[in-house]
Amino acid sequence: MPNITPHPDEHTTLRTTKLAVVGAGAVGSTLAYAALMRGAARTVALMDINAAKVEAEVLDLSHGVQFVPEAQVIGSDDVSVCADADVVVVTAGAKQKPGQTRTELAGATIDLMKKILPGLVEAAPNAVYIMVTNPVDVVTYASLKISGLPPSQMFGSGTVLDTSRLRFLIAQHCGVAVRNVHAYIAGEHGDTEIPLWDSATIGGVPLLEWNRQSEHHGPLNDGDRARIADEVVNSAYKIIEGKGATNYAVGLAGTRIIEAILTNEHSVLPVSSLLTDYYGISDVCLSVPSIVGRRGVYEQLQVPLSDAEYDGLKASADHLRAVAREFGF
Ligand code: 2OP
Repeated sequence: MPNITPHPDEHTTLRTTKLAVVGAGAVGSTLAYAALMRGAARTVALMDINAAKVEAEVLDLSHGVQFVPEAQVIGSDDVSVCADADVVVVTAGAKQKPGQTRTELAGATIDLMKKILPGLVEAAPNAVYIMVTNPVDVVTYASLKISGLPPSQMFGSGTVLDTSRLRFLIAQHCGVAVRNVHAYIAGEHGDTEIPLWDSATIGGVPLLEWNRQSEHHGPLNDGDRARIADEVVNSAYKIIEGKGATNYAVGLAGTRIIEAILTNEHSVLPVSSLLTDYYGISDVCLSVPSIVGRRGVYEQLQVPLSDAEYDGLKASADHLRAVAREFGF
């Protein structure tokens, strides 16, 4: 058989993409699964303090690798498994109990971040960090202070998930494909979040002017919008009530952000990042439509806001800042 000599640099300079997922619970392992299914990274590393759990998840995921784009899955309870990752997604932490709000988890999650972030940042200093653990906005703000990373390099999954819930509900109401709905949830990933109706469009038609002549898919009146907004805010409560946690949609939302980073898409996603004079709002992490690429968050878009939307965003910022202060940040 002819022998082809590998290039001498083969093992030193040719590197592939590595995703590290911290926390192998329902969210972390579903996110790893979604990332594998979509071929988001060549190596998927799982880290969890529970060695038996992480080993089991790695085995289970590895056994499916034949059926997905080429990848390897590794895992450990040691942070070194995350070494030199391109993206680190942090999902570790307590999950909401039925009826509990996300902000009630703040103290425990922030304490956990103080423990795990220094080692993570040492192992993967150049990674883009996506925080997912709730309350994600406050956790992202505290994590920026704990890690010292620049705000472009560390941000939260924010309202990417809530936005997909909003788009799903609008698409159902209007009888169009979800991908043709352009509408965002801004603010907190939680109870004070707000839908940005003024800038929402379907196929270039402003949503507020949606006037399809259809028995079932007609205009979105005030009542419809209020119902949809309410359903988005309460989605997670409903799912947690029924199955104890949310995992599939958040896994896909996280994967969407990872793809935007690793393929340097410059996609517009409502991630939660540090605001500095965004319409006068500063010193808080929350979601607004932002450009995301290989270096993380490049820019937060100045979306035109109605007075009510601005007031809602400001109230959300004030609430999140107050929660962060309560925990010393
Ligand atoms: C969600 O919105 C609980 O934050 C999680 O699904």
